Parts: sequence; C-alpha cells; structure tokens
Amino acid sequence: MTTENQTITEAVRERYGSIAAQVLTEQTNSGCCDSGCCGGSSEKDTISQGLYAVSELEGVPLKAALASLGCGNPTALAELREGEVVLDLGSGGGIDVLLSARRVGSTGFAYGLDMTDEMLELARRNAAEAGVENVAFLKGDIAAIPLPDSSVDIIISNCVINLAADKAPVLREAFRVLKPGGRFAVSDIVIEGGLPEGLVDSATLRRDLSSWAGCIAGALTDVEYRAGLAEAGFVDIELEVTRRYSMADLPQPLPTWVSALGDELVEQVVGRFTSTFVRATKP
Ligand SMILES: C[S@@+](CC[C@H](N)C(=O)[O-])C[C@H]1O[C@@H](n2cnc3c(N)ncnc32)[C@H](O)[C@@H]1O
Repeated sequence: MTTENQTITEAVRERYGSIAAQVLTEQTNSGCCDSGCCGGSSEKDTISQGLYAVSELEGVPLKAALASLGCGNPTALAELREGEVVLDLGSGGGIDVLLSARRVGSTGFAYGLDMTDEMLELARRNAAEAGVENVAFLKGDIAAIPLPDSSVDIIISNCVINLAADKAPVLREAFRVLKPGGRFAVSDIVIEGGLPEGLVDSATLRRDLSSWAGCIAGALTDVEYRAGLAEAGFVDIELEVTRRYSMADLPQPLPTWVSALGDELVEQVVGRFTSTFVRATKP
C-alpha cells in the first residue's frame, strides 16, 4: 500500500474507532449522529438517519441501531434466501449482519468484516445481546478478505467501499470470494454523472481526509463503479439511486474543496451525490 493510501486508511480507522468507542461507553439515548455519521461529524448530518423501518429493528440491540452509519438499507433491497452465506464488507456495529442472519435463518450464516477493533467489539456485543448465533465478525481489510474462494452467496455493504483508498482490489476480492452465480448487493455513495470536468482535482480530494472518512471525497462516479465491477469480472451490473443529496444533507462546515467552488457550483456538485444501490453478479 502507498503511504498516501495508508494515511487515508488510518484516518478512516481512527474516525470509526472513536465513534464505536463512544457508543460502547455511552448508555445513551442520543442517536449516532451526535458523534458523527457517514456524512460528517456534525449534528446536522442526515445521511445515516431513517434508513431502517422501526419494525425491522425489532430484536436488534439499541447499540447496533445507534451505531448505524450507513447510507442505505442493503438487506431490504437484496434478496436474501434461507440457507445462504452472506458477507457484509465494513460491518461496523453489525446492524446489517444481524438483519441478514435473521433472513438467511439457522441454516444460513452471516459474516461481518471490519478493520476497526472497537467496531468488532461493538458488533460482537450486539450479536451476543441479540442472542444471534449464525454470525461471525472477522477482522481484516475489505481489500484482502479472509475467506476462501467461492465461499459466499451474497456480498452486502453499507457505505464502506467509498472509504477504501483503492477500490480495484476490493472489487476483485468480492468477486473472488463469491460463488459462481453469487450476488454483489451494496449500498454506497456514488457521484452520478461525475464531478464537473477539471473542477476538483483528485489530489485535492485525497488530501481532504476528513471528508474522505465522512464518505464523500472517496466516492466513485457511476461510470467508474460500472467499469470497476466489469474489470473485476462482474456482469448484470445495475445502479439504482435510492436518495439524492442537497446542501442540507452535507456536513457543516462544508469541506474546503466544496466551499471553494462558490455557491452556484456547490449546489450543482452536491446534487450529484447520491446513495445508490449497486447490484452485480459473478457469472
Ligand atoms: C460508514 S461505517 C458503516 C458501518 C456499517 N456498514 C453500517 O452501515 O452501519 C464504515 C465501516 O467500515 C469499516 N471500514 C472502512 N474501511 C474499511 C476497510 N478498508 N476494511 C475493513 N473495514 C473498513 C469502518 O471501520 C467502519 O466500521
């Protein structure tokens, strides 16, 4: 890994480690967004709010719900079947793993993979509290998945691939561990239509560690996502926008590379950020 990519990965680990530590220590009734959601670190963050129906969360521990930092609801959109093996890339506090475990039943199994110790501790506590046994939380990088080839039926993920410093190995690894016919069913932040040509250079984005770790600066465009999945070997690639963002959803203060664009362009740029459900199949 390059030094620049290592710096990005460490910034991401630090941010989510401190959020998990806060949830672990607080017997709080405040939401996750007081400590910073996927979208940023202010109380104004809205990206991770309201993603799950109250009925879905029945039986899910409070701490798992509080640590929900995603930008979609992949288990609601993915067709999970009884007996399947699910892998959640960047499982955080474990909410989507617990929901998956319920859907695949006792003959199925759900793995969560995360690189942050505090998140793994939180997820394991949540699973124990929920009394769910068909789950395991693995420590590792989504760019080097600690599972054998062709061992998983479906890969889910919720707002994590945008955090990876280099997306290509993540998509290659997802392809490797899926069984033939296996599905990729991921919620992520995607920049629809890309950023206006020449407006923000990628070096500037990569230097903004806070907005990278807040799921914004590292997002792929829809064209890049499709190309990356195809390059890894996936077919039947589909992107479905589940939510479009506006200024009100962005973390405040705005990242400097956003505010430097001026009011008119900012609106234009922000309107291109979406939560998107990405589907693809391993042939
Ligand atoms: C935005 S949070 C989402 C957590 C969870 N999916 C959810 O919806 O609540 C990102 C999570 O991905 C983990 N993560 C980020 N990059 C990772 C990587 N390269 N390898 C493994 N885990 C990673 C972080 O530790 C964190 O728990």
